Amino acid sequence: MRITTSLIKADIGGVAGHVVVHPKLEELARKKLQEAKETGLIIDFYVYHAGDDLQLFMTHTRGENNPEIHKLAWDIFVEATEKISKPLKLYGAGQDLLKEAFSGNVRGMGPGVAEMEFEERKSEPVLVFSADKTEPGAWNFILYKVYADPFNTAGLVIDPSMHAGFIFEVYDVYEHKGVKISTPEETYDLLALIGTTGRYIVKRVYRKSDGEIAAVSSATRLNLIAGRYVGKDDPVLIVRAQHGFPATGEVLEAFAFPHLVAGWMRGSHTGPLMPVPLKDAKCTRFDGPPRVVGLGFSLHDGHLEGPVDLFDDPAFDETRKQAQIIADYMRRHGPFMPHRLGPEEMEYTTLPVVLEKLKNRFVPVEAE
Ligand code: F6R
Ligand code: MG
Ligand code: MG
Repeated sequence: MRITTSLIKADIGGVAGHVVVHPKLEELARKKLQEAKETGLIIDFYVYHAGDDLQLFMTHTRGENNPEIHKLAWDIFVEATEKISKPLKLYGAGQDLLKEAFSGNVRGMGPGVAEMEFEERKSEPVLVFSADKTEPGAWNFILYKVYADPFNTAGLVIDPSMHAGFIFEVYDVYEHKGVKISTPEETYDLLALIGTTGRYIVKRVYRKSDGEIAAVSSATRLNLIAGRYVGKDDPVLIVRAQHGFPATGEVLEAFAFPHLVAGWMRGSHTGPLMPVPLKDAKCTRFDGPPRVVGLGFSLHDGHLEGPVDLFDDPAFDETRKQAQIIADYMRRHGPFMPHRLGPEEMEYTTLPVVLEKLKNRFVPVEAE
């Protein structure tokens, strides 16, 4: 049976700032998706949040970019904004809804989307990850570790069906172009690109031996879509695990190192990506630190068994502790780079105003 998994998310308002989704937004989304399940539009769903981003995970048989599925998500975001976020004056009500009217597909309209269609295997473990206060390039490091680093993923060396490696589809989000890069033989080319996390973003990963889809991310950059800063494009990721794909534990292993990502406070700072259970999926200190939740499901004819709250585990306590130490260390840099992002990556900046004010006070100096 061919199943499509669609994870569509948007920030349509937070409680007490950009902290967390209001439970009433989730309630409304659950009610609407339950109705869609009863009409047969979708097979199953799970609603959750990561910080101030409302997450709609759906399964169906309609393929990727299906207008009805996208409209379902869009209409939920609009209705929840009108009925809940606006009357309750939630912070940033409807902030990711960039367009007035739906036009067939939520791509380019503000919400983030990750979708993949596949033939459901005899057993089909699917993992979803959602991060807040960061950007889609945050997954680059994770996906590299999972699919190209044998020190992370033992299966690359010892599982015959993974031994040929994986193909990374990388988007240049400035030029709106994509390129497929084959690992392990083109690993250095891949790293040359995806180390630039604000521009080159891993969109999909395929197993090389048979071209099967392994992982898909949301690769939007809202600020590029809108041409001005309108909100953070906090990313999502769907991963298939086990039996010829990296094991669930090999995928999770990549999150054990809290690597530095962009997007903390005002979308303008770097900080460690901290894996947390759902109960801690809210952003507090300095509006962060950036955090990620992970949920694991077993699919059966598109039905979702689960979730397992993957980071709700003492095995990640040390990672969280390390993230807190790194957060302290980074915070002590205050407004200095590299804690603060470079001017071209900042989402708020007073620099033009400051430069304008000081314009007449700049005087020529001797070249050193
Ligand atoms: C939002 C975010 C936050 C805000 C910050 C200031 O995704 O990253 O850190 O940028 O709370 O928000 P405003 O300017 O709305 O007061
Ligand atoms: Mg927000
Ligand atoms: Mg957010």
